[in-house]
Amino acid sequence: MPVDAKNTEAFLQDAAKAAQVIRETIQNDGFIHVFSHLDADGIAAAGVIGRALYRQDARFRIRITQWVDEKIIGEIVADKPELVIFTDFGSGYIDLLNEKIPSFKVVILDHHQAAGTAQNPNHTQVNPHMHGMDGATDVSGSGVAYFAGRALDKRNVDLAPTALVGALGDMQDRYDQRKLGGLNALIVEDAVNAKLVTVEKDLTFFGRETRPIHKTLSTTTNPFLPGLSGEEDKSLAFVSSLKIRLKDGDRLRALRDLTEEEKRRLCSALADYLLARGLHYEVTNLIGHIYILNTEEPWTALRDAREFAVVLNSTGRMDRPSLGIAVCMGDRKAALEEANKVLEEYRKSINKYLIWVWEKPERLRELSNIYVVNGEDFVSEKIIGTISGILITSLPNVEKPLIAYANVQNEGLAKISSRTTDLAVRKGVNLGIVMRLAAEKLGGKGGGHNIAAGGQVPLDKVDEFVKAVDELVGKQLRGEKVASNDNA
Ligand code: C5P
Ligand code: C5P
Ligand code: ZN
Repeated sequence: MPVDAKNTEAFLQDAAKAAQVIRETIQNDGFIHVFSHLDADGIAAAGVIGRALYRQDARFRIRITQWVDEKIIGEIVADKPELVIFTDFGSGYIDLLNEKIPSFKVVILDHHQAAGTAQNPNHTQVNPHMHGMDGATDVSGSGVAYFAGRALDKRNVDLAPTALVGALGDMQDRYDQRKLGGLNALIVEDAVNAKLVTVEKDLTFFGRETRPIHKTLSTTTNPFLPGLSGEEDKSLAFVSSLKIRLKDGDRLRALRDLTEEEKRRLCSALADYLLARGLHYEVTNLIGHIYILNTEEPWTALRDAREFAVVLNSTGRMDRPSLGIAVCMGDRKAALEEANKVLEEYRKSINKYLIWVWEKPERLRELSNIYVVNGEDFVSEKIIGTISGILITSLPNVEKPLIAYANVQNEGLAKISSRTTDLAVRKGVNLGIVMRLAAEKLGGKGGGHNIAAGGQVPLDKVDEFVKAVDELVGKQLRGEKVASNDNA
């Protein structure tokens, strides 16, 4: 969706309103509790707000969680902060907040599809969906936090790179050639004008700053290179056959080190390779927009915004979100060093879970309209979302969404994570609505975006839940209405 001036203006006015609430709280020396979501975008959002509040000498505390629940509400009621800020979630809990903490001042900086209708003058919400924009593509949680931060103080323009990291962590580069668009384009503009970010067009393989060339090929899932992805030896042979030097002295070269001519050679060889296998679509995916953080050291993960996002994601999903926040707040020493270790552990866990899923056919089932992965007690409920996101890129039927779930035994819940493709969304699938309706029917909670959504339901209701999801997706694919308020 291109940005519409009127919608943008209305959205920015909401951001200014939120900034005003924050400003007044700080002026009254009120204590602020920030709650944010545990993925890359949520952590980036917390980092943006954290730095904005720090800059104003505000008194505040940040907590990262997977969802808003009674426990969080209990904490708020007990601690009585003068202001509660939710970033990267909150819009799914409007009614709950209105019911449980109606007299608390609340600011919601979110980009998920809203659920609920409550209006409360104490609760200020900023969300692109309220102004005809799509929160799955046009702005992320960290972006919404950025616009509020910028309205609070112009100097916060220097937080734009962090906001872009969040957007890329949420895979919002859905415009042509993996470009950020919508409100994200305004953030890119701010970052580029401030000389903090450079945008280039280049091969989009993941790990351009940190991985040896053949490893970027063998570890890529987007674009997926059959025969090379997952095959380090073959990738090495492929790169060597193009007479591309693998080392500069002792150092293995990364994609960033290739000369223009070498890049062209690699790109055209890959295009030939894909075309020979009939993969025309993948060829268009080879080149895309790269977002480089100018102030970060070259050859480190933080230099490339997409790699930066994975560092943040790993800290959140491996239960070390404070490391990610510290990195966003500027720590380039102890926290970064530790975060890099956590990233390695995270990669190992992902590998372990993927191998486990593929080990037995019954672990990935195909129903009429969806694929289902039961992660049992094996897959961590915090990493099931990542697994779901990786698996969706490798399933044969691109019209079938995937739902994956893992048990959270101590809470008697299953944590569900669903993903689908652009194609299925164009055909009418909206997982945010599916997750919400199916979960609510079975005493759980769910929501999110059309392309990626999640939820939690009681463990003993999982089978019924899966069945309900299968039916709802079937209805959406047939163009039938599944809810009276489809956009809610
Ligand atoms: O809660 P939040 O909005 O931050 O998370 C969005 C999730 O949706 C991320 O895990 C992201 O990877 C996923 N996503 C996706 N495809 C998109 C947009 C988002 O898989 N096009
Ligand atoms: O957890 P996962 O990464 O699968 O979540 C996908 C998307 O659905 C995220 O944007 C998440 O914030 C959202 N979600 C939600 N409500 C839930 C669970 C997940 O809005 N109860
Ligand atoms: Zn988000």
